[in-house]
Order: sequence, then C-alpha cells, then structure tokens
Amino acid sequence: MTGKTLLLGQTLAYQADPFAEGPDAARHMAHGGVLIENGRVQAVADGATLRTAHPDATLHDYGDALITAGFVDAHAHYPQTAMIASWGKRLIDWLNDYTFPQEMKFADPAYATEIANRYLDLLLANGTTTVCSYCTIHPASVDAYFTAASARGMRVLGGKTCMDRNAPEGLRDTPQIAYDQSKALLEQWHGYNRNHYVITPRFSPTSTPEQLAALGALWAEYPDCLMQTHLSEQVDEVAWVRGLFPDARDYLDTYEQHGLLGRGALFGHAIYLEDRERDRLKEADASLIHCPTSNTFIGSGLFDMGGLMAEGHRIGLATDTGGGSSFSMLRTMAAAYEIAQLRHNPLHPSQLYWLATQGAARSLHLDHLIGNLAEGLEADLIVLNLSSTPAIAQRAAQANDLWEALFPTIMMGDDRAIADVWVNGKRVSR
Ligand code: GUN
Ligand code: ZN
Repeated sequence: MTGKTLLLGQTLAYQADPFAEGPDAARHMAHGGVLIENGRVQAVADGATLRTAHPDATLHDYGDALITAGFVDAHAHYPQTAMIASWGKRLIDWLNDYTFPQEMKFADPAYATEIANRYLDLLLANGTTTVCSYCTIHPASVDAYFTAASARGMRVLGGKTCMDRNAPEGLRDTPQIAYDQSKALLEQWHGYNRNHYVITPRFSPTSTPEQLAALGALWAEYPDCLMQTHLSEQVDEVAWVRGLFPDARDYLDTYEQHGLLGRGALFGHAIYLEDRERDRLKEADASLIHCPTSNTFIGSGLFDMGGLMAEGHRIGLATDTGGGSSFSMLRTMAAAYEIAQLRHNPLHPSQLYWLATQGAARSLHLDHLIGNLAEGLEADLIVLNLSSTPAIAQRAAQANDLWEALFPTIMMGDDRAIADVWVNGKRVSR
C-alpha cells in the first residue's frame, strides 16, 4: 500500500484566464489522470501513461465523468442556511425580518455548531470544497465554523460579522469589542489547520465610522488577512449610505476613509458603482464578488461582468447563501450566465467554470493553493457526472465537444451531478 492515488476520467484544467485568452486557456483530456500523493496533485496527464508509470497507486476509474478542481464559493453567510429561500423582501426588510432574527439564534453555541456542520455537509454534497463565509456577531459562531471545517479537512475562510448600529440589541457590539474579539479570533484561527481569518465589518450601514476605523486599524496590523464586506448591492442601500456618511464621496469611500480598501479586500455585489469607485477598486486591486442568485432573488440588479472584466478587475463568484437561493455553484454559474445574457454578454462555459474555481480562488488570493487541477496544488477535487438526470443526459448525448457536454450540467445540474469529492487528497465519505 503506497500513499499514491490515481483518478482516471476526463480532466479539465486551466493554463490561463479564459476571459483574457478565450476557451483555449483550458486544457481538456478525454482520457486523463490525476495522481495524488500527500494531499497534493502530483501530476495531471494522460491516464494510461500515469497508470503505467504508477502501478502501485490506488486506482479510481471514473469512466467518462469529468474530474476538476472543487468549487470555491467566495462569499456566503453560513448562519443563513436555515432561512434560505425566504419569500418576498428586498435587502433592508429581508435583513430585518429574516436575517437578524435568524442570526440571533447563534447566541446558542450548540445551534451554531449544528448549523456549521449542516452547512459544510451541504457544501461538500454540492462539490464546494472552499468557502469564504460570514459568521455572526458571536465569537462562538466563528469557533463552530472553523471547528466544523477542521473536522472535514477543508480550506475555509471567515470571520466574526461586526455591527454596532442599525441592528437589534443582541446583534450589536462596539468598536472596541469588535476589534478585541476579531483580533482574538484571528490569533486563534488564522493559519490553524486550513483556516483563514477574514476581518468582517458587515457593511457601512451597520457600522459606525469608529467601528470601521477600528477594523481598518486591525487590518493594518494583519495585512496578510483578507477583509470582507458588502458594497452597492441595492439602490436603496446606496441612498441610505449617502445619508449616513454625508462627507463620503461615494459608498466605497466609507471604507476607503477607514483603511478598508486595498489588495485583499473582498467586496460582495458591487452592482451600482460610480466611475470613481471603479477606478479606485481597480487601482487598489480589490476583489469584486459576484453573487448572481442573490442579485436576482433579492431583486438587486445586474452585475457588469463584461465591463468590469474588460477594465481588469479581480472578480470572484459566490452563492451569497441565504440571500442567494442555492448552495450549488452549478446553479450559481447558470445565474451568472443569465445575468450576463441580460447585459448582452454570453459568458462561455470555460469562463463560467473558471469563475467558480480558479477565478474565485484568485479573488481570495488562494490560487497558488487551490482552484485548479495542476501539479503542486492541494488535492481538493470533484468528479462531475455529465449525465446526472434524464434531461441533462439527452442533451449531453448530442454534444460535439467538452463545452457542449458541460453546459447542460452548468445550466440544469445540481448536487446529483457531483459523483465524488476529494478534500486535501482524501475521498469524502458520502
Ligand atoms: N448586506 C449586508 N448584509 C447582507 C447579507 O447578509 N446578505 C446580503 N445579500 N446583503 C447584505
Ligand atoms: Zn452577503
């Protein structure tokens, strides 16, 4: 028994960014192989060649299923798991009526543990091996999340959601408490197992300038951490921010003035951007996280993927669960496609799949570790059945190339398409 594992099947990897290079940026092998050892991908090559060279490897032959990197979800709220698909509100009412009451329940650490475990199992069932999640105001919600991820060997990112105004009693801290608790959690979890702490002011309407400044100061002390928040999701929200911060030039400026704009900043949504904001986000090399099922579900608007990509922004893809209406990055790719179609920009399947894997990993500054099928990267992999339902199978049967075979699964697939999942070189028991 050696420590080597060989997966055989179709393989899909990226050698470049398909937004810059087109579909040729992807490398597809119809009879490929992935050699795993010590939790890492040792080789991606012709399957028969790898088999001959490594006769001692434990073999998993997936036939014509497609082996790729696991999905990366660059923005989610695990505490909103149990309230996903709540009907009929727009952002501010949705937060007050559904989200805050649900997040209150996380005062009970046992509830936080139950939801964290449920959430990560749902993610793995959907082929998502890395997520960047908000927790709640409660430090125990962060402990529950990183503990659940560690038990599964997953590489995850997250942090305590800080709020000190415009939130109910019980979900508010103060600038000092936000700073102290975030710092203690960061010291405890950042770099422990595969966990990354992310400094997390929820968004400008729920933080005073003093709290934003305190978290900006914390970020300056720990510049290798990421910082996540929300930006320009709905028109009413942008108007509210203008009223709360009369001296700010625009919404982004409320973060910029407090040390919360820079490389490693993750801005969820970023739909209603002024020219100055676009320029500053690009200059700062901040990440914009597109959350398409959320943007349609809460009625937010149409992200400008074409324009922002052309300007060279760093863009990731995400579910935004539970504002987003699905745990599945397949459904999320489909929604990204539909939103781009409404802006007359038909995203190619190679671009959609890149956004859900390497692009999302790049937006989290983790593309040197995860998000692709490449030698040296961590073996977080999924195996897709491209004929997982009768409707998908009959369409895929007509396909002339990989993209035509994959696109029906992107548009119509769900957790039934996830045939297998590997985390850190270990098969996830399902
Ligand atoms: N803006 C501030 N908080 C949230 C949240 O929890 N979900 C979404 N979609 N937008 C937000
Ligand atoms: Zn969000």
